[in-house]
Amino acid sequence: MVRIDILSAVPKLLDSWFNESILQRAQKKGLAQVHVHDLRAWSTDKHRRLDDYPFGGGAGMVMTVEPIHRALESLMSERTYGEVIYLCPDGQMLDQPLANELSLKGDLILLCGHYKGVDERVRQHLITREVSIGDYVLSGGELAAAVLSDAVIRLLPGVLGDESSALSDSYQDGLVAPPDYTRPAVYNGWKVPDVLLSGHQAQIDAWRQEQAVERTRQRRPGLLEDQDR
Ligand code: ADE
Repeated sequence: MVRIDILSAVPKLLDSWFNESILQRAQKKGLAQVHVHDLRAWSTDKHRRLDDYPFGGGAGMVMTVEPIHRALESLMSERTYGEVIYLCPDGQMLDQPLANELSLKGDLILLCGHYKGVDERVRQHLITREVSIGDYVLSGGELAAAVLSDAVIRLLPGVLGDESSALSDSYQDGLVAPPDYTRPAVYNGWKVPDVLLSGHQAQIDAWRQEQAVERTRQRRPGLLEDQDR
């Protein structure tokens, strides 16, 4: 069982996400648990504020250290976490190898930034890792935390119905996935490749491998270069 604790200034944003789909199934099966916490619960400010003006001036607000520190201390007094991750646009880019790595870490804490982000001392002293989901700026870390949780939880053994299906994902072997087809074999004059209807499993496997390599060459040539290194 992997437990993911998410610290957020806007926990409502995440409620529906974790109550649907694969993630809900994983939770029902007891394979994963996601707890979304309102950081305001740890604010000692009388208005429960989580942010303040930046020293040195400038636009935007900065999330203060104290509520984050108190939240982390409280969670970490209950159990040991494999990583405490801050979601931010300048973190390590999330990709399949990183998702694989995080899926083996045990329990995780995900800290969502808001406004301009967090006081730098949070990043220096309280977290173990920074992760970005792409080179663009979101208005908060919540969507990034949901993306990371999904990528990690679906890798946990037993979460996907077909055990082999996470292994055949795009990226899992450093290639994008080959195309899939289902019935009917001809629709509107558009035909499924003959080899898939042939019944020759070895030929089908070879065709899929060829397609995966060709698609990777066309769409993500960088993945092939990574393999040559
Ligand atoms: N917070 C804001 N933008 C983000 C991004 N691209 N990735 C992760 N967290 C973020």
